[in-house]
Amino acid sequence: MKLGILLSGRGSNFLAIADSIAAGRIRNAEIAVVISNKPYAPGIVAAEEHGLNAHVIQSKGLSRADHDKQIVACLREHNVDLICLAGYMRLLSPEFIAAYPQRVLNIHPSLLPAFPGLDAQRQALEYGVKISGCTVHFVDEELDHGAIIAQKIVPVLPDDDEETLSARILEQEHICYSEAINMVLSGEFEIVGRRFTPKGRG
Ligand code: GRF
Repeated sequence: MKLGILLSGRGSNFLAIADSIAAGRIRNAEIAVVISNKPYAPGIVAAEEHGLNAHVIQSKGLSRADHDKQIVACLREHNVDLICLAGYMRLLSPEFIAAYPQRVLNIHPSLLPAFPGLDAQRQALEYGVKISGCTVHFVDEELDHGAIIAQKIVPVLPDDDEETLSARILEQEHICYSEAINMVLSGEFEIVGRRFTPKGRG
């Protein structure tokens, strides 16, 4: 199966996915293309250094529909089966979602539906929750909203600040994303309403 990664920044989730493929934790998959909407994003530089197909498709100055059209064309050129958003800081257009139904995943650093949007870790700290975590979900047209595939929890400790909580969540993100990708690539699941259930488990 061919993966397409979309990112805008640091790229640690992309690198964790690449490591999981290399280590055989994600099976039967390769990264066919990495696309950034930001030139010089550390993640796209790392993709080039890894010898992967790396493209910058700038969003600046383009409508969402026009930008997404270019991204979809690039994904098609590389015969991508599954798209993983990894710190991709843009909503997808309805046309993009329709082109890849149940084929786009995202990772978010909170236990959705709590704290969608930007600065999820800061939102969690300010709200005063005692546990937080991360969520991998299918992408739909709403922000951080589609059916949930996997979640992992982390404690929020009394002396946490945004940095320490983010780091603890990020460790779990790197594990959670690979597990979710494996589940989706296996095709052994069903979605009823919003409920994603791996087949064979009640
Ligand atoms: C992660 O916290 C992810 O959950 C969120 O954006 C951040 C991206 O980090 N969507 P990285 O670029 O993968 O290091």
